[in-house]
Amino acid sequence: MANIIDGKAVSARVKEEIRQEVEGLKAKGVEIGLAVVIVGDDPASQVYVKNKEKACEAVGFNSFKYALPAETTEEELLALVDKLNKDDKVDGILVQLPLPKHLDDKIIINNIRPDKDVDAFHPVNVGKIMIGDYSFLPCTPAGVMELIKSTGTEVAGKECVVIGRSNIVGKPQAMLLLHENGTVTITHSKTKNLKEVCARADILVAAVGRAKMVTADYIKEGAVVIDVGMNRDENGKLCGDVDFEDCKEKAGYITPVPGGVGPMTIAMLMKNTLTAGKEHHGV
Ligand code: GUN
Repeated sequence: MANIIDGKAVSARVKEEIRQEVEGLKAKGVEIGLAVVIVGDDPASQVYVKNKEKACEAVGFNSFKYALPAETTEEELLALVDKLNKDDKVDGILVQLPLPKHLDDKIIINNIRPDKDVDAFHPVNVGKIMIGDYSFLPCTPAGVMELIKSTGTEVAGKECVVIGRSNIVGKPQAMLLLHENGTVTITHSKTKNLKEVCARADILVAAVGRAKMVTADYIKEGAVVIDVGMNRDENGKLCGDVDFEDCKEKAGYITPVPGGVGPMTIAMLMKNTLTAGKEHHGV
């Protein structure tokens, strides 16, 4: 039986460290604020935004929520982003994705001040990640790195396979593993012999968005298996990209869904907001 990586516990530890630092900053009169913008009424986004507000409260940040109607125009949203860019009480800005279809993510993200872009989605921050000179790490990949670290596994020299090449997870995940000196392969829908490639991995990160796609024959005995997926199975139950029941005997370490990567993403968002706040306040 694999060791199950407890994302909730690792996330709680990270948030507690942040809370203590925030307490110290408050004693010096420094307050940190995160603005979260949600457009429309996507139910999943509403849950994510609520969780982000709760996390802000738990660590001691001020949180500013802007819930805009689905019909919001690009001009209106850009005007809000501009206002938040200029607001000294706001250290971090997060525009919840996906946006309604008539709004272009790229245009909106490109208008967030890079030093307030706590998602690390702005091209300036993406470029910094590429060259290894970053202040913000993309939240989900950074959370995955913390989970790998929590197992005591050294990334250097390991075969690391990432399934999925999205801008939000797959690509930055590969860069972070590479910065830690892993030997990294990015796989995707056109990859030949995907199963064999994955079965080489000492560290396998699944971020593909297909329920229970990764079965035991995709993994190497004793591998660290990290599941970024968040899907519904045939019974409507939350599940990952990894078939947990099938893989749990063979993996060395494995994350559950829910309770693995999910809680880490928010902890890393809090970490980025703290970094932004400290930089803005010169501490
Ligand atoms: N939607 C799903 N995940 C995320 C995230 O990490 N950041 C933003 N802005 N939107 C998301």
